[in-house]
Order: sequence, then C-alpha cells, then structure tokens
Amino acid sequence: MAPKPQNFLFLIFFLHMAIGIATTTNNNGFIFNGFTNSNLVLSGIAQITSNGLLQLTNYSKETLGHAFHPTPINFVNPSNGHPISFSTTFVFAIISQYPDVGGHGLAFVISPSKDLPGSMPSQHLGLVNTTDNGNVSNHLIAVELDTVQTIEFFDIDHNHVGIDVNCLISLNSTTAGYYDKDRSEFVTLILASGEAQMVWIDYTGEDMRLEVRMAPIKTKRPETPLLTSLVNLSDIVLDEMFVGFSSSTGAASGKHYVLGWSFSLQGNAQTLDFSSLPSIPYNKTQSNKGTSMVLPVVLPLTVGFFVFSLVIGLFLLVKRIKKFSEIKEDWELEYGPHRISYKDLFNTTKGFNDKNLIGSGGFGQVYKGTLPKSKVKVAVKKISHHSKQGAREFVSEIVSLSRLRHRNLVQLLGYCRRQGELLLVYDYEENGSLDKLLFGDQKPPLSWSERFKVIKDVATGLLYLHEGWEQVVVHRDIKASNVLLDANRNGKLSDFGLARLYNHGTNPQTTHIVGTLGYLAPEISRTGKATTSSDVFSFGVFLLEVVCAKRPMELNASEDVPGLVESVLESWKKGNVLGIVDPNLESLFDKAEAELVIKLGLLCSHPESAARPRMRHVVQFLEGSMQLPELSIDSLGNSARIKSYGVAFDDFVATALSTSDIEVFSDEIYLKDSCS
Ligand SMILES: *[C@@H]1O[C@H](CO)[C@@H](O)[C@H](O)[C@H]1NC(C)=O
Ligand SMILES: *[C@@H]1O[C@H](CO)[C@@H](O)[C@H](O)[C@H]1NC(C)=O
Ligand SMILES: *[C@@H]1O[C@H](CO)[C@@H](O)[C@H](O)[C@H]1NC(C)=O
Ligand SMILES: *[C@@H]1O[C@H](CO)[C@@H](O)[C@H](O)[C@H]1NC(C)=O
Ligand SMILES: *[C@@H]1O[C@H](CO)[C@@H](O)[C@H](O)[C@H]1NC(C)=O
Ligand SMILES: *[C@@H]1O[C@H](CO)[C@@H](O)[C@H](O)[C@H]1NC(C)=O
Repeated sequence: MAPKPQNFLFLIFFLHMAIGIATTTNNNGFIFNGFTNSNLVLSGIAQITSNGLLQLTNYSKETLGHAFHPTPINFVNPSNGHPISFSTTFVFAIISQYPDVGGHGLAFVISPSKDLPGSMPSQHLGLVNTTDNGNVSNHLIAVELDTVQTIEFFDIDHNHVGIDVNCLISLNSTTAGYYDKDRSEFVTLILASGEAQMVWIDYTGEDMRLEVRMAPIKTKRPETPLLTSLVNLSDIVLDEMFVGFSSSTGAASGKHYVLGWSFSLQGNAQTLDFSSLPSIPYNKTQSNKGTSMVLPVVLPLTVGFFVFSLVIGLFLLVKRIKKFSEIKEDWELEYGPHRISYKDLFNTTKGFNDKNLIGSGGFGQVYKGTLPKSKVKVAVKKISHHSKQGAREFVSEIVSLSRLRHRNLVQLLGYCRRQGELLLVYDYEENGSLDKLLFGDQKPPLSWSERFKVIKDVATGLLYLHEGWEQVVVHRDIKASNVLLDANRNGKLSDFGLARLYNHGTNPQTTHIVGTLGYLAPEISRTGKATTSSDVFSFGVFLLEVVCAKRPMELNASEDVPGLVESVLESWKKGNVLGIVDPNLESLFDKAEAELVIKLGLLCSHPESAARPRMRHVVQFLEGSMQLPELSIDSLGNSARIKSYGVAFDDFVATALSTSDIEVFSDEIYLKDSCS
C-alpha cells in the first residue's frame, strides 16, 4: 500500500522533532514532563525556572508571556484539504497575587507565529490587541482559562474556560470544572486555586469537533467533555502553525505555570508522568507539615510549662481579642477572601502609626503597609462608619467594587469591619496623588506630556466605570487628589463608588450630598442625585485644574476673586485661551493639546447637564479619533445661550451618528462586525 500523503507529513514532523529534542518525541508528537532543557521559544516575561517549570508570568502587572514549540505543524492534509486530528494535554497552576482576584489567565494557542507580535496584556491574554481582535487574518485558535470577567468580550464569569477562534469573544465557554461520573455531578474547579490541574484538548478532523476537558491532577480523564465547538480548522490554519501557551497579567496579577505538556497529531497525546513533574513553589497546605513529628517528643517536657503559660496566655488573649476584635457575621463567610483581618492591618501599619500615614481626606486617614503573607504593598483607608442597617448590602457592594478591574483604577483588595470603623484595603501606588505633584513644589513640574497622559488615563478609567461594567458606577468625587500615579506614572482613579458606600451608612432618609465643593455639578443641589453626567462635570473641572495647576476654588477666598472656571473664560474672552496654562510649564507644552483640554474642560463643566458630552465621546476627543465641535465662548459662558448650545451639541452627535463613523459610537455594532 502506498503511503498516504498524510503519513508523509508526520514523517517530516517526526524528523523535525527528532532533530529538535531528542528526549521528548514519539512518532508524531512530543512530551515534556517538566521543561528543563526544553527548546521552547519564549517571549515576554516567560521563563523556565530552575526546577523545570514553565513560568509564563509573575506578579508584575500588565505583562505577558508566551512559550511556543519551535517546530511548525501543518494541520491540514494538503491533498484533500481535510483537517488533521490532534490531541494535547497539559498540567497548569495559577497562583494569583491576591486571594480570589485573578489576573488574568492562560491559554493554549495555535498560531502562525511563535511570539504573537503586537498582542496586549490584561484582558487580551497576550493573544490579540484592540485593533486586531476578531480579524480573520489572525489565524488564531485558543482555549482560554480566564480568571477575570471581561464584559467587553461577553465573558460569563471570572472562572471560565472558552474556545476562541481569532477573537476573544468565545465560540463556546463555560465555568471551569468537570463531570464526575462516579458522583454523577458537575464539580466546579477554581482556576486560580494554586493547585495543579489538567486540561485535555482533542480535535477530530472527520467531524471537526474540538473538545476540552479538565480535572484536578491525577484524576482520570473525564468522559464527558466540559466544552465542545465545531471548528473547521482548514478555514483557519495556514500551512505552518505553531502550538504553545500565552498568558497575561493586568491590574491584578498572578503566576501562571505549566508543569508538563504533551502533544500528538492523530492518536491521543501521551500520558504525563506525574512523578517527574516539577513542583509548584508555593503551596499553602504544606506549611502545616512538621508539627506532627515534633509534638510527641517535646510534649511531656512542656506539660508543666504549658499549664503555667496557659493561665498567662488566657489573660493576654482576652486583652488581645479586645484589641483586635472585628465585626464578623455568618453571612460574611461567603465573602471570606475579601475579608482581611484587623490584626494584619493593625500590625502592618504599626498600629496605625502617624509614620505610616500617607494621606487624609474627607473620608478618613490612609496608611501604608505590607500584607504579611503575600508581601503586597497596600494602602489602608480607615473610615469612621456607623452602619446600623444594610450591612449586608454594604459588604456586597464593597466586594463587587473589588471585582472592578481596570489599569486606570486603583484596585480595591478587601475590607475589614470593626465597631464604628470600616477599613478598605487598596493596592499601594508608588507615586502618590496627582494633587501633590501638581501643587507640591516638585521640580521640575509635572511635564505637559505627563499631564496629558494622566488626563487620558483618568478618562479611560471613568469610561470603564460608566460603561464598561455590568452596572453603572458613578464615581461622585473626581478631583486631582483622587487620582494616583503608579510606579510608571500611569494615572489611576481611586475612591470610586466610595461616596455611595458612605451614604449606605448614614440615615437613608436624608440624602447626603457627597463630593467636593467646586467639583459638584449645579443640578446636584437641586436633585441631590449624582449621575454619570455630574461625574463628567467634575471631570471637566479636573481638566482645568490639571492644565492650570489651580484649584477650582480657594478656601476663604474673598468674593471678588474669580473661581477657576471664570478665570479660564476670562482669559478666553481676552483672546488668549492659553494664557491660563500653568506658568511653571514655561511654554513647554503642546499648544493644540492644551487648547483641546481647556475647551473640553469647559464643555464638560457646562452648567446644563444635557450639554455635557458622555465619557465615551470625551475619550474620543482626547484620542483625536473625533473632532471637538467648534465652541464659542458664548455657548459656554453666557447662561442665556445655554439651552441653544445643548441643542447644538445633540445635533452634532446626531449628525456624526448618521455618518459612516457609526461603529465608533456603539460597541455592539462594532463587536458584531469584528467577530462574525
Ligand atoms: C517578573 O519577571 C521580569 C522578567 O524576568 C522581571 O524583570 C520582574 O522583576 C519580575 N517581577 C516580579 C514581581 O518578580
Ligand atoms: C495589533 O497587532 C498587529 C499585529 O497583529 C499590529 O500590526 C498592530 O500594530 C497592533 N496594534 C496595536 C494598536 O498595537
Ligand atoms: C485585518 O488584518 C489585516 C492584516 O493585518 C488588515 O489588512 C485588515 O484591514 C484587517 N481587517 C479589519 C476588518 O480590521
Ligand atoms: C500541596 O501539598 C499537599 C500536601 O503536601 C498535597 O496534597 C497537594 O497536592 C499539594 N498541592 C499542590 C498544588 O501541589
Ligand atoms: C458548548 O459546549 C457544550 C458542552 O460540550 C455543548 O453541550 C454545547 O452544545 C456547546 N455549544 C456550542 C454553541 O457549541
Ligand atoms: C472547511 O473549510 C474548507 C476551506 O475553506 C472548505 O473547503 C470545506 O468545505 C469546509 N468544510 C466544511 C465541512 O464546511
């Protein structure tokens, strides 16, 4: 019988393999029980650890890691165009930096390149970027293990497995887990549990079925697949494809490991040898080891001493319990991971010592510290709080805020409740508040390009709060002192949602206006209600604040001293819009950008709410993808013309909507186009 062309392909594949890696081949695939001396092509921050783990990412934020097998594979039989079956299995582990806050995920990938050029971290998983997501010329197939729910990609939850073809909107996805045949039930697995888990991915060329299974390590392969999709591989793959892994971190991060991997064209992937897989460095349960041996030997000697110290101990304990007492109710158990013990917070801030104080504001004091186990630097916000009712909604709101994840938001990590006191724990941001950099006497002053970047960062963060999440989050208190800068001077919004939390604690009968004078939209005093539009107002004042390095109003200023907005309008009336720019910049700024920011600031802080743009448009103005409409000083300053201006702006948006730019305005339409 003449050899089928398909077999010829395997021979070529086999030869490649034999030359590439001697230890790990069988006749049509490869196996790695640990990756020591493997010849994987690594990029991003991926590395092979000294004990042979493939480590794709570490705790650094906004990073990505790739690892690909160097041998190109042809997934299609060139003679008849039919896709070829393949099978792969691997063991992975994800150790997230903070309990229950994954960041971001791991994917098995089939790709035309060995390094996925141009791909982005965070929700893009190192697979694609914002412009090429969904493009058929990606030729990309991935099985994602995703620990974050990205609404933009219609993710179902923050612990799911998905099959992706060219696009991060999965063809099919489901909560991680497996069907246990013996117990005849579905068992959920937590991807970021830190435990080693297995994945099997099988593709049958004949019926073009891609199947994904997973199970805890050393469990046998489940019969029922977790996930299936029909995928015509010959539509997608090119002649030469590569197989490997991609992983990324975002605002929260994690260590993504692969312990072992086998791959086979036709026929099942070889079974991994669990005994020779490298071990995962950090394993919580192991820390209890050792006590069992020590106790029986030492116990008799210590009984006497033990009784004595018990008495003293009890006395100290009572004192200590009082000192560290928290309010903890049964229903809070489900929020376990988000609770951080008062003792840890007390110790890390040296008992809320003044030396650790890094700020204080309307809500309370902020202290710096480091969490004992994870060594994460944190900022602890201590708020006096008297919540009689609604504690449950209150905590669930905190927990849901901590699920908000965006590179331009300061990550909320957890909380702790005490009598009359609430502690919120945030990521610590290295460069402190923008307020200090703007108004402190730092030399040289914050440059224009840095200011413009921070402005865009804050706009993006606020857009995410308003439109990017499952529910609308109104910030309520946007100002320079609520913007923090991380180590790379990226701008991050802090204190989002806090004003509302604060309201929960107070008497629900009275509507408490929270916010900062000078940044409050005028309609709030009438309606008492904060909206996304009142956030846009504060954002407008913030823009002027950053350009001019002036506070919106000085405390105790006499009546005839104009406020910030009046000064800006005044300068414009004199025909010198840029005359108001921070003199410390010494004309070292981009004139067009500065003018854009000033005019946008005035437009956003328009007294009439209907005239203010939405954050979606603000971001587009700032990025230059949409032109700011021609504004006249009268339309902004003269209250008699406010009404007509509002109409003008609506007209403007309506006109833009009817033109070919339509996808710019609607995510849904855009997504439909890009992932069909
Ligand atoms: C992560 O890995 C990169 C590259 O090896 C290194 O520069 C960085 O310091 C690491 N980050 C952490 C938090 O270990
Ligand atoms: C996205 O990736 C493609 C390559 O696939 C690259 O050409 C493009 O410049 C990237 N776009 C961005 C915005 O990074
Ligand atoms: C898809 O990518 C190709 C190559 O990068 C590019 O030419 C094409 O315009 C992209 N298509 C879309 C719809 O973005
Ligand atoms: C952690 O250690 C325990 C006890 O040694 C072991 O049973 C478990 O499998 C380990 N977990 C991982 C992820 O290695
Ligand atoms: C998704 O996978 C499940 C489980 O295998 C399967 O029952 C379902 O039909 C699949 N859905 C699609 C759209 O392929
Ligand atoms: C799969 O895709 C190939 C190439 O586009 C096409 O020739 C073939 O008919 C497709 N198979 C099925 C069953 O649709």
